[in-house]
Amino acid sequence: MKLVSLLCCLLLPFRVHAQEREFTLSAPVEFAQTGFLKHILPRFSLKHGVRITVLDADADVVIGANGIPVFVGLGTVWHVSHKDDVGPVLFTQWLLSDIGKRTIDGFQPDGDVLFSSQVVVEEEASAPVFEGDPVKGEALSLSRCGRCHVINETNRMNGIGQTPSFALMRTFEDWWNRFGTFYVLNPHPSFSQVAGLTQPFPANLPPAIVPLEITQDDLDAILAYVATIAPADLGAPLQSQ
Ligand code: HEC
Repeated sequence: MKLVSLLCCLLLPFRVHAQEREFTLSAPVEFAQTGFLKHILPRFSLKHGVRITVLDADADVVIGANGIPVFVGLGTVWHVSHKDDVGPVLFTQWLLSDIGKRTIDGFQPDGDVLFSSQVVVEEEASAPVFEGDPVKGEALSLSRCGRCHVINETNRMNGIGQTPSFALMRTFEDWWNRFGTFYVLNPHPSFSQVAGLTQPFPANLPPAIVPLEITQDDLDAILAYVATIAPADLGAPLQSQ
């Protein structure tokens, strides 16, 4: 008898603890239909002794478009947003942990890999979003940069000698960095003005050629256009560049 009550006392805190961690979860129908939840939830529950109830909406944990990116599949990146309670936090940490990732990658109904834990967040970080207008950017590239650089087929014959074409410069891994700062890279500073970014030309050193004057919006548009240019094929015969 004594032993039983002792056991009760020992187990009680655990039970309360487990109940505190219990939470609800919802996900879009097409997601739930894949059977993925039936694969991951029991594995998490087993490991952590936490019960998860799946709801249609208003849940403590929501798998969808917002929150922390946790896995990719069905052509999209899936995120988890959660209440700041123990269970939901634990679940999110678990999804991001090695064992959670292995569980995600281990879901292969009929041998098909439907979801992957490899959320490519880097891509967002390294390939910036260009908000300028690419159509305006093409016109600006031709009129402002096209007197030296070959921009595209339109001014193919007008570029100056050794000046690299836009398609060639598009092969630089950090092309957006270079285009975004072209005005400080030689030879441009001596003849370029970007409103709000550059100092006026020194009075004793006026530009030797017709100056290149653009706004920051123009530069955004040029970047957006350059983003659409296919990088030159460096393996192809030289004339085609
Ligand atoms: C007067 C001629 C001229 C004009 C106009 C001109 N460029 Fe250039 N640009 C050059 C030359 C020459 C180079 C090659 C410099 C080198 O190889 O060192 C160059 C190089 C560049 C580079 C590579 C720089 C580097 O160091 O990586 C970028 C990016 C660039 N130009 C962008 C532009 C943009 C954008 C415009 C128009 C807004 C423009 N250029 C207008 C002559 C020009």
